[in-house]
Amino acid sequence: MGRGIAQVCATFGIPTSLFDVSEDTLASGVEAIHAGVEKGIDKGKVPPSAREEVRSLLGAFTDLEPALTGATVVIEAAPEELELKQRVFSAIARHVSGDCILATNTSSLPITGIASEVPGPDRFVGLHFFNPVPAMSLLEIVRGLDTSDAVIERCIAFAGRIGKEPIVVRDSPGFATSRLGVAIGLEAIRMLESGVATAEEIDRAMELGYRHPMGPLRLTDLVGLDVRLAIAEHLHQEVGEQFRPPHLLRTMVRAGRLGKKSGRGFYDWP
Ligand SMILES: NC(=O)c1ccc[n+]([C@@H]2O[C@H](COP(=O)([O-])OP(=O)(O)OC[C@H]3O[C@@H](n4cnc5c(N)ncnc54)[C@H](O)[C@@H]3O)[C@@H](O)[C@H]2O)c1
Repeated sequence: MGRGIAQVCATFGIPTSLFDVSEDTLASGVEAIHAGVEKGIDKGKVPPSAREEVRSLLGAFTDLEPALTGATVVIEAAPEELELKQRVFSAIARHVSGDCILATNTSSLPITGIASEVPGPDRFVGLHFFNPVPAMSLLEIVRGLDTSDAVIERCIAFAGRIGKEPIVVRDSPGFATSRLGVAIGLEAIRMLESGVATAEEIDRAMELGYRHPMGPLRLTDLVGLDVRLAIAEHLHQEVGEQFRPPHLLRTMVRAGRLGKKSGRGFYDWP
């Protein structure tokens, strides 16, 4: 998600620093961004001038301090773990100015809980992007308990600057999108588990019957089964029994069948 967000920001002319703790992931992220820009140019969605512009605007770092120099917005897309995100923001807060917006791309964790470790929680907000970031037009802006109106206004303006359509939601488990999307995804896995239909048929039911652009099982493969499991566990705890992760989902994650990123999930991704 981080590389997708960085690609969109740089493509829309914003100087962008990509940070990762892993050098290999960072290098493959930069490569994927340039490949993504080429794809956009081929499809006529991005002007050819973006090729050079993104090269000049994008920086890649494994050191936090230089990555954050002069930052006005920081968007975190580290793994979906509360303590990890809190640790990341404590480190970030040491290197940015007091009016820098601190945003998390969490799909489900409480914004207010992540912000509890951050000095100045009024500038803390959820900026929830969708996968694949360059193709998906929604930006879900999540208002924490202390997020100021001014920060929400700046986020709405930021969404417009990077070509996204914003919605603003209150900090509640799963926000508007993950709560509904994961409910459908988990039910589809339970249906597969109990033999209602094949993965292809369940997906086709939603694609043709309800005009979803992609069925829930293929979407789970795209998002990552581990990511979905983490969200389901959180929603199970916060909202209730309907979000209990199906046995099949746990088993597949244990087996390393994480979806597209691992080459195999409900489908094969050669
Ligand atoms: N996958 C999706 O479709 C999707 C959609 C919307 C939101 N999200 C959210 O975005 C976040 C990231 O999800 P993802 O699918 O990109 O996960 P991912 O596992 O693919 O990527 C996480 C990245 O964080 C890096 N990382 C690990 N520890 C770090 C640290 N301490 N500091 C900085 N980087 C660190 C990893 O090296 C990796 O590159 C999660 O909060 C997830 O819920 C995911």
